[in-house]
Amino acid sequence: MALSIDQASRVFIDPAAYADDDYFDGACSLLRRESPFHLVTDPAGFFNPFWVATRHADVLEIELHNDVFLNEPRPVLGPAESDRRNAENGHMLRTLIHVDDTEHRELRGVTSEWFLPKNLAKLDARLTELARIYVDKMASMDGECDFARDIAMHMPLNVILDILGLPESDYPRMLRLTQELFGSADEDLRRGDDPQAIIEVIQDFFAYFTRITEERRANPTNDLASAVANGRIDGAELSMMQTISYYVITATAGHDTTASAMAGGLHALIRFPDQMARMKSDPSLVATAADEIIRWVTPVKHFMRTAATDYTLASGHTVRAGESVLLSYPSANRDEAVFADPFTFDVGRSPNKHLSFGFGVHYCLGAMLARMEIKALLTELIPRLDSIELAGEPALMKTIFVGGLKRLPVRYEMR
Ligand code: HEM
Repeated sequence: MALSIDQASRVFIDPAAYADDDYFDGACSLLRRESPFHLVTDPAGFFNPFWVATRHADVLEIELHNDVFLNEPRPVLGPAESDRRNAENGHMLRTLIHVDDTEHRELRGVTSEWFLPKNLAKLDARLTELARIYVDKMASMDGECDFARDIAMHMPLNVILDILGLPESDYPRMLRLTQELFGSADEDLRRGDDPQAIIEVIQDFFAYFTRITEERRANPTNDLASAVANGRIDGAELSMMQTISYYVITATAGHDTTASAMAGGLHALIRFPDQMARMKSDPSLVATAADEIIRWVTPVKHFMRTAATDYTLASGHTVRAGESVLLSYPSANRDEAVFADPFTFDVGRSPNKHLSFGFGVHYCLGAMLARMEIKALLTELIPRLDSIELAGEPALMKTIFVGGLKRLPVRYEMR
């Protein structure tokens, strides 16, 4: 049965829809064609209404007009009940994605140097070493593994612990907390069915990072945690809320996102063996391949903006002050107006104007690092793979925010 436009627009409030690529892509294609800027209403009233921007041009224009389209007070789509609680008590966290304008610029300035290419270049050797460790692990697993769970899930978290300077013994705790934060819509990943559980997860983050902040203030080192703990804005320390929020975003933003790209990337290379063959015969394709993987997977499904004043987009749609717009990155990344054959996975795609990292002032701080990680893994993995195929059904996470494959069973021969 054909989907109506209103039904299609409800994929953005349906975690299960994101776990079904064909259904989700079909709904977005319909919207891009028939109603590219659509008002989404939830018949159950669980979510407050919002506009959704499904075309690349509208997403870009909104991201670029950050004086009108603010991250506050609704940076991410959440239940109406959370909107109400946040309006009353403020957000539980105050990270870069929760703030605008001067506060955002100043907070971002605290770590932006850390993420500059010349600083990240120092990580290259460690990334190669980590890639080798994980590819060796895969090689030791008797020709079968769940690539999402056994490999992709772990390498990005290892990188984050390294840059934050956290001890290896804290690894299991961080893994659990980041999965519980982003997997709150998935029964396999979340802490419990009680909506209160997510609050407990955030409280656990607070407890853990309060201790780290105290340690780094007493004994500063060269890691990112020290840069945050001892960061200054106009000569003053960051507030505890800002400091801990900073750790939470660096610890979480680079984990499930990059892991999803790695697992989704290998899945795409298995589905399209001609692209795997191209990469084997021309390793220099790794740079364009990394970006194509990030476009193909689009691990971050949306961010939101709320209009400070009435604004009419070049496409003619008017957003009124106080109304929110969901920026659909997966839809923008399949927009036929920008991408030739958007449903073709092309490891040599160039240019590749994907919006997987957003755009403008909030552009992903870790974009360069994420690309380096994916390139390091592919560079190590591809030449060692003699053959690879699926060994079972892959499964996507149920989510409306960040996610990708939670299971990718594979069978392979490698050296
Ligand atoms: C493939 C992996 C990744 C994807 C797809 C991704 C995607 C995104 C997106 C869409 C945004 C919001 C941009 C906007 O609003 O315009 C963002 C922001 C951010 N990302 Fe990433 N990210 C990835 C990896 C990382 C990594 C590895 C880190 C750091 C370790 C990181 C740290 C951040 C931070 C701190 C922000 C907030 C920036 C701000 O609001 O100023 N991300 N990311």
